[in-house]
Amino acid sequence: MAFTGNAAAAGPLRRASLNNERTVMSAHTCPWWLGYFLVSPLRRWIEDPAAYFGPHVRPGMRVLEPGPGMGYFTLALARMVGPAGRVVAVDVQPRMLDVLQRRARRARLADRIEARCCAPGSLGIDDLAGTFDLAVVIHMLHEVDDKAAFLQAIRAALKPGGGVVVVEPRGHVSPEAFQTELNYAAGAGLVMVEPPRDRALRALLRRPA
Ligand SMILES: C[S@@+](CC[C@H](N)C(=O)[O-])C[C@H]1O[C@@H](n2cnc3c(N)ncnc32)[C@H](O)[C@@H]1O
Repeated sequence: MAFTGNAAAAGPLRRASLNNERTVMSAHTCPWWLGYFLVSPLRRWIEDPAAYFGPHVRPGMRVLEPGPGMGYFTLALARMVGPAGRVVAVDVQPRMLDVLQRRARRARLADRIEARCCAPGSLGIDDLAGTFDLAVVIHMLHEVDDKAAFLQAIRAALKPGGGVVVVEPRGHVSPEAFQTELNYAAGAGLVMVEPPRDRALRALLRRPA
């Protein structure tokens, strides 16, 4: 598995993070140790990756996952895209990515996953513009300070017609705040395909073809 990143952004970030992660993280960033709880197998009972992504992911696809944490969804996505597909997982916290990589190696999925470390203000994926079939933005958008710029970067990363699954945690994010996030997505040129239903903070959007 490659561990790459924008040289200008990832190098200083990694060093700063090792010295004091708080110096580069926003106030709402999920603490790294919480990542261990998020990869609990028990989570499958409330958040089944197949239910979230089954209708949208096919073998051979390229999937972008910003904010993967320790990779609860990443490993499931890597299984779904199969040996010909790829998942690019981009996070601001090297410690999250270290554990994600270890888990991927143990599951023999490392060759389908690229882990990238980014700076809070930039995903550092300009080199991958227009190459993804799907982006999955799960429980992380509320942590991003500049949502407009972030969603523009997601749109630019997608192929024309590519999809975006956005999910936010209920209780933590209000329906009104979720709607504001979706407004930012519309402002970035992403069109709504499946709006939120039944009080779930989940939506499917698309980059126009
Ligand atoms: C609450 S965790 C969710 C992890 C994973 N998506 C899940 O559902 O298990 C949020 C993750 O987003 C990452 N994150 C926060 N802001 C980010 C940003 N601007 N760019 C990339 N990752 C970010 C955090 O470091 C953390 O790993």
